[in-house]
Amino acid sequence: MKTDVLTPTEENLSLAAEKIRAGEVVAFPTETVYGLGANALEPDAVKKIFNAKGRPADNPLIVHIGRVDDIEKVASYVPDIAYKLAEKFWPGPLTIILPKSENVPKITSGGLDTVGIRFPSNPVARRFIELCGVPIAAPSANLSGSPSPTTAKRVFEDMNGRIPVIIDGGECKFGVESTVISIDRSGDSVKILRPGAVTDEMLLEVVDSVVIDGGVLHEIPSGQKALSPGMKYKHYSPKADVTLVKGSYEAYSEYVKNNPKDGLFCLIFDEDEAVDGVPYVTYGKDSETQAHRLFEALRELDERGARFVYARSPESTGIGLAVFNRILRAAGFKIVEAESE
Ligand code: TXA
Ligand code: MG
Repeated sequence: MKTDVLTPTEENLSLAAEKIRAGEVVAFPTETVYGLGANALEPDAVKKIFNAKGRPADNPLIVHIGRVDDIEKVASYVPDIAYKLAEKFWPGPLTIILPKSENVPKITSGGLDTVGIRFPSNPVARRFIELCGVPIAAPSANLSGSPSPTTAKRVFEDMNGRIPVIIDGGECKFGVESTVISIDRSGDSVKILRPGAVTDEMLLEVVDSVVIDGGVLHEIPSGQKALSPGMKYKHYSPKADVTLVKGSYEAYSEYVKNNPKDGLFCLIFDEDEAVDGVPYVTYGKDSETQAHRLFEALRELDERGARFVYARSPESTGIGLAVFNRILRAAGFKIVEAESE
């Protein structure tokens, strides 16, 4: 299959929307990462997403809508709190899990009775979804297990020959995937299943309490059911063996010096100096820029042939929690606490 990369003109977006209506898969930009979209209500179209990514069938897809009212097309029950959250954070990087309506086939929800719903804010995404006229199921547009793509070039590397169209909308604004939340039965508390740009503090402006699911910071023991199935997979991983190293720059650099390896790279902050001639990639200077740069940095490490990576641990507050969560998974939960002598 030939893969066309199209600029987001009105004409090209109409062409791409026609592909969707014909049951095809189209990659498109969002404010978080690129998505791999298909008609969420059409099982055969959704199947093509799973095939293109090589994604396990039990990992549910997020359904993207183009206006708040469409929530009722895909959810069977919408508590008041969901409307309040939608009013505050939509369009934007928040995915709300609700009981799914019968319109949504099981293949889309990975066999679950719930569905994750998101109204993205990226103008190209919004126009595209509007032109499609149907809810769009879309996971991140990477091959399963690889870092999410934040540019059309990275989507092309993973999806060339697998899908007919990629819409090139430039670099994604946030660079980490949306915050995924569920709402508890009482309806006034939410649980963060995957941290993102909508932070716990921001959610507290609307709800009484916010719980961070254990799967965000800890490995889910084998045999235990993950609330968000995506959490149980090793994720966002470069090919290299990554270790997350906590501590000051001094402690970090000592750790690097004391633990040399063949094919080692450092993943450090913009202002950090190289350690002892070890090659390095940088990923930003504060939580926002780290979120924006992280996935690109992980892909760069692969390109440069890194076999081992010591990643300097980011701050884990605000959007930093999302950055920390993604590196932790890329590291397969390997953390060391470095101390300087
Ligand atoms: O920002 C984003 O969310 C991007 C863009 C394209 O919108 N999409 C994205 O999709 O990151 P994906 O499929 O790569 O990640 C979706 C995550 C997975 O961890 C999945 O398990 C979880 O959300 N999820 C989706 N539906 C769910 C549900 N009904 N219950 C629990 N977790 C759900
Ligand atoms: Mg993904």
